Amino acid sequence: MEKNSILPVNKQWIFSTLASFLGCSILIFSLSHVCDRQTLSALQDLSTSSATSRVESSRQVDGVAEDESLQKVTKRKCDIFDGKWVYDTNTYPLYKASQCPFLSDQVNCRRNGRPDFDYERWRWEPLECEIPRFNGTEMLERLRGKRVIIVGDSINRNQWESLACLLYSVISPSRAEVKVGSGVHKFFRAKDYNCSVEFYWSPFLVQLDDTPVKGSRVLKLDTMAASARQWRRADIMVFNTGHWWVHRGKLQTWDFLQYKSKLMKDLEVDAAFEMGMKTWAHWIDHNINPIKTTVFFRSISPEHKLGNQWCHNQTQLIMDESYIELFPRSITGIVEKTIQKMRTPVKYLNITRLSQYRKDAHPTVYTSKQGKLLTDEQRKQPQLYGDCSHWCLPGLPDTWNLLLYNLLVLDNSRKIF
Ligand SMILES: *[C@@H]1O[C@H](CO)[C@@H](O)[C@H](O)[C@H]1NC(C)=O
Ligand SMILES: *[C@@H]1O[C@H](CO)[C@@H](O)[C@H](O)[C@H]1NC(C)=O
Ligand SMILES: *[C@@H]1O[C@H](CO)[C@@H](O)[C@H](O)[C@H]1NC(C)=O
Ligand SMILES: *[C@@H]1O[C@H](CO)[C@@H](O)[C@H](O)[C@H]1NC(C)=O
Repeated sequence: MEKNSILPVNKQWIFSTLASFLGCSILIFSLSHVCDRQTLSALQDLSTSSATSRVESSRQVDGVAEDESLQKVTKRKCDIFDGKWVYDTNTYPLYKASQCPFLSDQVNCRRNGRPDFDYERWRWEPLECEIPRFNGTEMLERLRGKRVIIVGDSINRNQWESLACLLYSVISPSRAEVKVGSGVHKFFRAKDYNCSVEFYWSPFLVQLDDTPVKGSRVLKLDTMAASARQWRRADIMVFNTGHWWVHRGKLQTWDFLQYKSKLMKDLEVDAAFEMGMKTWAHWIDHNINPIKTTVFFRSISPEHKLGNQWCHNQTQLIMDESYIELFPRSITGIVEKTIQKMRTPVKYLNITRLSQYRKDAHPTVYTSKQGKLLTDEQRKQPQLYGDCSHWCLPGLPDTWNLLLYNLLVLDNSRKIF
């Protein structure tokens, strides 16, 4: 341009100036036009989210989240995990133990002789919204052609048993296919709906090599459990882990931890757990298509093993916030942080607190150990043999599944069904 300015003005120069002026005008015009369109779509987003605020999923609305009116909308969003227990003999239990012949001895408290039944009759009521009554037929309709997998430790097996019973009890037994022979893999299918619900036992989600003799068992923090190959392509996945990581002493199931071919005698629980969770998160982000698959992570299931909250003989709920949290909060923190950082949206089944009230709902001595019902002698020693970790069925895990179902149905941000 400097060069041009010292040259005499010629026709070519005038022409090019005119051309640039015209070009600039067109550019400015189209820019402002694009800008208008952006404002418009932002406004449309806003009105859509207020119309659907009650059923909005927990996903972050980026960019516009600062907007004041949107913040109000977000505040009104209902947290179905915030609520209270209501005694309800009309609709609870949602099925009878006798309608679920494959219910295991471990959690079939009624068949095992537990004398009180009130623990079966509590309904969870969120504070800020109503959740529809459970309808198993409707749930099967929604799960038509879908494969659900529940993966984790024995508490997730507890949840699988609950979901399989909820669905089994609304169909004719001849229209169901059930395989419960193994504790490691369980299978339920409703033939008329081509819908299956499976359980995969994998308490760490990462791989535990426990085939060598005790003394050389290795927990591989950077390798997924071998069964992960079979998890792929499920439509709905429900994971949990945590409980087995904090086991120490006699209950500890590994002798070494391995990370990137480095063998370690031990590591702080939090550090090991964080590595394991990262391995899981990476696997999900690289093996799951979020358009097809909805991923859930169930939060820690609380135990009642201490003081006046020891589950034995309990028939009443804890009705205030006086529950004792036994599980390390740092583990919960690591789960929540890991999930937030993932590319795949993971729905958090945040059942810890609502379960914390339920010191009445564990099997205690009405259970089995190593596949055998407790003997009368063992039942007299609840300190040694009572189970205050798992949950009677029908019972609390039915509510977890009811909330799982609600999160699926209420998710209108993507069409899952
Ligand atoms: C459950 O849902 C099915 C199918 O939508 C419907 O036909 C039935 O009446 C419902 N049952 C109850 C008790 O609401
Ligand atoms: C049944 O569902 C599976 C997925 O779970 C699907 O692959 C298969 O094609 C379905 N079969 C029919 C007959 O719809
Ligand atoms: C539990 O209840 C039974 C029957 O009421 C009673 O005999 C027993 O002493 C109670 N046990 C404890 C540990 O409270
Ligand atoms: C889960 O619920 C607890 C209390 O019920 C709450 O403090 C926590 O923030 C919730 N976590 C998430 C990730 O929503």
